Amino acid sequence: MTTVTGELIGRTPVIATAGLTKHYGSVHALTDLTVDVGPGVTGLVGANGAGKSTLIKILLGLLEPTAGHASVLGHDIEQASQDIRRLVGYMPEHDCLPPDVSASDFVVHMARMSGLGASAARERSADVLRHVGLDEERYRPMGGYSTGMKQRAKLAQALAHDPQLVFLDEPTNGLDPAARTDMLRLVQRIGSDFGIAVLVTSHLLGELEQVSDHVIVLDGGRLLRSSATTDFLRQTGSLLVEVVGTETERDRLGEELARRGLTCRPRGSMVAVDPPPADLAAEGAAHDLIRDVAVELGLGLMRLEPDRGHLEDVFLEGGARV
Ligand SMILES: Nc1ncnc2c1ncn2[C@@H]1O[C@H](COP(=O)(O)OP(=O)(O)OP(=O)(O)O)[C@@H](O)[C@H]1O
Ligand SMILES: [Mg+2]
Repeated sequence: MTTVTGELIGRTPVIATAGLTKHYGSVHALTDLTVDVGPGVTGLVGANGAGKSTLIKILLGLLEPTAGHASVLGHDIEQASQDIRRLVGYMPEHDCLPPDVSASDFVVHMARMSGLGASAARERSADVLRHVGLDEERYRPMGGYSTGMKQRAKLAQALAHDPQLVFLDEPTNGLDPAARTDMLRLVQRIGSDFGIAVLVTSHLLGELEQVSDHVIVLDGGRLLRSSATTDFLRQTGSLLVEVVGTETERDRLGEELARRGLTCRPRGSMVAVDPPPADLAAEGAAHDLIRDVAVELGLGLMRLEPDRGHLEDVFLEGGARV
């Protein structure tokens, strides 16, 4: 399986940092961070205070690092912050929307500020507002928007000038579960519809892992882990299986899988399967076995997927798994 590092061979990374460090007095917000970010969607995960926003602000040239270097789209952050800001969109963590202005006027304004002509700015604004799903509301003052609408307007302004890369700082903040799902889908489509690289932050690994090609985990300002999302899942390796039927049938499945060498335990209406032993660790081998056993027992397979709960565990367990 290709990792981001693999994809980067012979190409400039979208973002590269080397020994990046930021201290605020005695607070060590970032410590010796060396990491590369490739194209596609990259999730930047960490608990409150992990250093996510600090990293983004340094990459945008809004904060100076205490030590270390970084480049964005091949431009050095210290030499070329103007170039970087031209090429990069930014959705900040906190509310940044003027309350008396409509989303439509705001996004057109942002596009004009970045150098687009009047008609190109209007066209671009209509495109991005359509993309984020702001319809008639786009003509109303943003002061009256719900949190979900504000987040969409913030996302639209980040896309206004057709950037090559966007930094999205906690785009799901304050959203209810349905709105979170919608926002995550939008984030995913920024890459596919607009061909823009994305660095998106959250304190929830589970939600970023759904939309990211690659995940970077920060813990207390230090790099805990950086890997392709598929590797994340593969290394944790646990699976959740759900079959149509009664608890007895679920247990029959668990017992049969155990007989074939997999360690299983009931989890609600599902069977949780531990990472497979070496002889079943080949790509897809455990999946195939589970599918075959379900067929043999005449059980309908409803769900067979990586166990997200364990993914959260990796994050909580900290440095031990890096
Ligand atoms: N201007 C500042 N002055 C002093 N300390 C700061 C400042 N900005 C951030 N910090 C501290 O630096 C650390 C990293 O903060 P940062 O905002 O980058 O974290 P974060 O990962 O974005 O957190 P959150 O999930 O809460 O947004 C925290 O301990 C924070 O309190
Ligand atoms: Mg933050």
